[in-house]
Amino acid sequence: MIASNTIQEILDAAHIEEVVGEYMTLKKAGSGLKGLCPFHGEKTPSFSVSPAKGIYKCFGCGKAGNAVNFVMEHDGLSYPEALRLLAQRYNIQIVEDTNYDVDAQSELAQEKESIMLALQFAEKQFVQNLFQNNTQSKVALAYFKERGLQKNTIKDFALGFATVGWENLITQATESGYNLDIFFKAGLIKKRQSVEENKQSTFFDVFRNRLMFPISNVSGKTVGFGGRIIVPSEKEPKYLNSPDGVVYDKSKLLYGLDLAKNFIKQNDECYLVEGYMDVIMLHQNGFKNVVASAGTSLTEQQVKQIRRFTKNISILFDGDKAGINAAQRAIDVVLENDCNARVVELPEGEDPDSLCKNLGFSGFENYLENNTMTWLDFKKKKFNKNLDDPIHRSKLTSDLLQSIAKINDLVTRGIFAHELAKKMNLDEQMMAQQIRKYRSRVLKIRENPHAEERQEIHLPSDYEHLNKTLITDKKFAQEDYLITSLLYYGKLPYDVDENVSVAKFIQKDLDEEGFEFELPLLKKIYQEVKNQMNKEQILEDRFFIQHPDLEISSYASDKLANKEFYKISNFWWDFAEKKIRVPDENYLADVNNSLYYFKWSKLLKIKLENQEKLENAIDEEQIEQYLLIDHNLSRLQERFAQDHGIVILPDFD
Ligand code: UTP
Ligand code: MN
Repeated sequence: MIASNTIQEILDAAHIEEVVGEYMTLKKAGSGLKGLCPFHGEKTPSFSVSPAKGIYKCFGCGKAGNAVNFVMEHDGLSYPEALRLLAQRYNIQIVEDTNYDVDAQSELAQEKESIMLALQFAEKQFVQNLFQNNTQSKVALAYFKERGLQKNTIKDFALGFATVGWENLITQATESGYNLDIFFKAGLIKKRQSVEENKQSTFFDVFRNRLMFPISNVSGKTVGFGGRIIVPSEKEPKYLNSPDGVVYDKSKLLYGLDLAKNFIKQNDECYLVEGYMDVIMLHQNGFKNVVASAGTSLTEQQVKQIRRFTKNISILFDGDKAGINAAQRAIDVVLENDCNARVVELPEGEDPDSLCKNLGFSGFENYLENNTMTWLDFKKKKFNKNLDDPIHRSKLTSDLLQSIAKINDLVTRGIFAHELAKKMNLDEQMMAQQIRKYRSRVLKIRENPHAEERQEIHLPSDYEHLNKTLITDKKFAQEDYLITSLLYYGKLPYDVDENVSVAKFIQKDLDEEGFEFELPLLKKIYQEVKNQMNKEQILEDRFFIQHPDLEISSYASDKLANKEFYKISNFWWDFAEKKIRVPDENYLADVNNSLYYFKWSKLLKIKLENQEKLENAIDEEQIEQYLLIDHNLSRLQERFAQDHGIVILPDFD
């Protein structure tokens, strides 16, 4: 764990214009700098940097942050990795926080680290096994050679071999002084159902007589393995993969992403294949922007991983029935997560591995060029029924409309709707209506407070997309508004005569009436505001932008960038379109509004909760009690509305 002092030192040293300037050209624009955004393709610069504030924001794609965020986003690094990189660049000695040891969180971090070491050890053993000069190793190596893999490829992917026998890895690990518990947690060994008591070795190797494919996380650290059987067997699966555990989470991992990420970014395209061997063979033939989901159908998290590097995903699945079905499902996951889906159709019986091996670089390149289609064409083609039959026609149309409805971007949605109308010769207006229907269903399903998803909004792990910290849930709009006010105007005077700052005023007001924030991120920021107030500190922008807590710094950078760049240039359209809040000259009105809306939303919430209780009340007494509360709350609302000139709408939904 990096000490917070060191983090501060790094943040202070890493000037945004220098850090960004190492990756791209910046030109002066007003009091700031501008350039072509490195995170999305554009021809006119909308990527803005404010050296004064230490922040950047792209008004094209919305990415924003401080210097560390930039490095994370650009190089695909985790928070500590980015900090270490910058520390190196600025010659800052990293102090590790040892106090942190007692923390449970650091125990977990330590456990993770030991597991990674065990995996690294195993990988080394597997690689060594492959190059032993004995019969079984020769068979294993010959297999790879026969599949057409070159020595360098075997090395690049650290392919290996788990030998025959039940305790080879165990013996090697014990001899090297490792604790077997960690190997167990790493999913490398398992416990025997021991029948005899006091028997010494109760563990056995998970991977036996298998070709080993290490699976890395995005930074290239091995987190698990896929093990392929050499001789096909009916009793055992072809591939055995590491079980999910502390460091291995198959729903988040993509095989090959660590090697592919820079190529994906360069090509602004990612090929998605099904198998380990597909990734490896394409890579060997010069197609390096390729990844595979390992042992799962494509997940939302996997698409989000890819999206950090490109929005263009080309699906290249096997040409058999299973591959086609998997591609159909993958398309929807890609679309729902703001990426463009294309599909490359493979001849039946071929997979990317075999086809690429047969055609070689230019042949395969040609093939890709001639056989890539939009997801819409792919789905239409695979439907494969006579479209003169109205029943088939309507079935296909509604399938396609449902996929279109999953696209979040309005313009893209419109374009595909238009495409579909043209292709199926349908009335556009009627289709638009149907899409709206499906769309509201899609949104409803998403809004459904799914515990897992909510957590995603609240706690972006640093591997995930930074802009997750943006508050997209309408439920928290008022909380978001109030915190934005605090960030924008907190340090300005609320009442000059009384020497009260906006932050102080808001804090007092909320405390007196007992209002609280709910969204964990905003709650956290508000707590920071209170701490600063208690220390009699002024709320400096810098305090939030350079906050060691990544969530806070990303959120604050984004908000403050909106304010900052609004002043520098005219981003009217972006502001209008993206509903970015325009900073107000007459800030007091803005502050008061945000405070009113915040309280209003809280009152409303209490009222709704009470109404629910009323509906579920079981006896007269309860009913009376809740009715009284409801009445009082209504009175309160009326008074509140009168005070602040708000018009009460009869029904809020
Ligand atoms: P494939 O059967 O297409 O494997 O399964 P492959 O990688 O092309 O291997 P070769 O060419 O037969 O040697 C695609 C992927 O599905 C997962 C693996 O991730 C594999 O790479 N899989 C397959 C499993 O997890 N378990 C299995 O038993 C089979
Ligand atoms: Mn294959």
